[in-house]
This record gives sequence, structure tokens and C-alpha cells, in this order.
Amino acid sequence: MASASFTEDIAHHTKRLEGKVALITGGARGLGECISKLFCKHGAKVLIADIQDQQGLSLQDAIGAQFATYVHCDVTKETDVENAVNVAISKYQKLDIIVNNAAVIDYNNHSIINDDVSEFERVLRVNITGPFLVTKHAARVMIPARKGSIVNVGSVSSSVGGVATHAYTSSKHGLVGLTKNVAAELGKFGIRVNCLSPYFVANDSGKEFFKLDDEGCLNVYSNLKGVHLLEEDVAQAALYLASDESKYVSGHNLAIDGGFTTINPMFGLFSQS
Ligand SMILES: NC(=O)c1ccc[n+]([C@@H]2O[C@H](COP(=O)([O-])OP(=O)(O)OC[C@H]3O[C@@H](n4cnc5c(N)ncnc54)[C@H](O)[C@@H]3O)[C@@H](O)[C@H]2O)c1
Repeated sequence: MASASFTEDIAHHTKRLEGKVALITGGARGLGECISKLFCKHGAKVLIADIQDQQGLSLQDAIGAQFATYVHCDVTKETDVENAVNVAISKYQKLDIIVNNAAVIDYNNHSIINDDVSEFERVLRVNITGPFLVTKHAARVMIPARKGSIVNVGSVSSSVGGVATHAYTSSKHGLVGLTKNVAAELGKFGIRVNCLSPYFVANDSGKEFFKLDDEGCLNVYSNLKGVHLLEEDVAQAALYLASDESKYVSGHNLAIDGGFTTINPMFGLFSQS
């Protein structure tokens, strides 16, 4: 059963995605959960595609099954991806939006010499082969419709080195390449493809990877002082790229990083200690 407060929240919210159908990978928790909820509040019907069945089903219940549908989908398995897209079509007869949000990171690989090739390949399979497969099957149904918005979730590791592991950084750089190439192919069908690239978000996975407690999170370096990046801020950027408000934006990588990837604070007029 949907919680009364969430249903009420949906009823009173402005609707920037009214009538749209969205599939969000990794939608069961973290940023994906936040995006799923925000899209539903804005009138979208959302398919939560994840491998965490229990979490996905309880999110579906919390949002309300009339707004959100959980579908088991391992993005590395083409049959799962094909099925998730087919569920959207059989339930709603269309698919307007894809958010390629599912990703993993290899926690203990901090040295190229000791890096395990199977771990490297595991990360690339989820973080880059996954979005490739989801985009492929989304395109299959978006091309005949002559419209669609594909939003890939990158990272500051999509454009700078040294923040995360080799596998994660390689995969997130690759995602920007995939974004640009698919935008080049699908533009003629009216389909937009963009990436959004957040800085550190102090959610469970962010804290776990950087081994930070709440206090430590507050002390993470930021070029922009006085504010902290929240899941909601990333979800708002996804909402913009998914909605018709960004109708002429394609092939873009939107950094949500307070300037982190464009500024080198180490030397110069404005260097920060
Ligand atoms: N947390 C951060 O600081 C941060 C910063 C920049 C970018 N990002 C990116 O944001 C996105 C979401 O990150 P998060 O912090 O919410 O992570 P998270 O680990 O909380 O959530 C990831 C979700 O993806 C799902 N998933 C993992 N493998 C999957 C697979 N094979 N098929 C389908 N689903 C799968 C997980 O079950 C989980 O629900 C990722 O793309 C991540 O790289 C996160």
C-alpha cells in the first residue's frame, strides 16, 4: 500500500513529467530511489529496474503501484534488459525516458599492480556494458516513436582522474563517450542523450567507498562553500534532462560538482588552502 503522505505529496506536486514513462536502472536505492520518487511526484509512471528485489518491491509499495512498478533487471544481462523494456511497453505502450543510473565500484583496488582483472571487468560490465544494453533496447522502442530522453549518470570521475579506482574512472569516462556517440546517431529520430556528473554525495555508497562518517562527509573538499550536494540535487538535474524543458540539449555532460572539475585550486590567484 502506498503511504498516504506520499500519495498526497504526488497529488499536490507540480507535474513536469506528466504522461511520461520512465525506466530507472538501479532505482531501488540511493540516487536511483530519489530519482524514482521525484519522477513519480512529477507525474511520470516509473519502472524501477534493479537486482535488489526486496528493496525494489518495498519502494514500489511506498510510492504506490499505480505510479511505480518494480522489475528485476540485471543490466549486464541482455534478456533482463529486453524484458524490462517490454514490461514498460506492455504496461504503458511506450517508453519516454531512460535513466542509466545503476553502477558498482571496486572497493579495494587502489593499485594498478594489484588490480584484479575480473574485478575491473565486473565494474565495466555494470557501468558501461549495462548502459549500452539499456540504450540499445530503449532505442528499439524510442526510434519508432520519434522521441525520447536518455539520461546517463556519470560522475566527476567521468572527466578527471584520481578520485576513484581505475575501473570506475574508466567506466565513467566511457559513459560520456557512449553519451556523445548515441546522441550523434539518435538525434535524427528526435531522441536526446545526455549525461549528468555529480560530485561526492554523502549517501550510503558514497560514505562506504570513501570510508567517511557524517562528520567526515562535512569536511570533504568542495570548491563551493556553504552547501553540500544532496541526492535531491542530482535528481533535480535528472528531472531537467528527462523533461521537455531541456528539449534542445543533447550530447551534453552536465557537471553537478560546484566547479570541482573545471577549477584547479592548487595554484593561482584564487588558490584555496
Ligand atoms: N554516491 C556518490 O557519491 C556518487 C557520486 C557520483 C556519481 N554517482 C553515481 O550515481 C549512481 C548511483 O549511485 P548511488 O550512490 O546511488 O549507488 P548505490 O550503490 O546506492 O545504488 C546503486 C544501485 O544500482 C543497483 N545495481 C547494481 N548493480 C546492478 C545491476 N547489475 N543491474 C541493475 N542494478 C544494479 C544496486 O542494486 C543499487 O540499487 C551511480 O551511477 C554512481 O556511479 C554516485
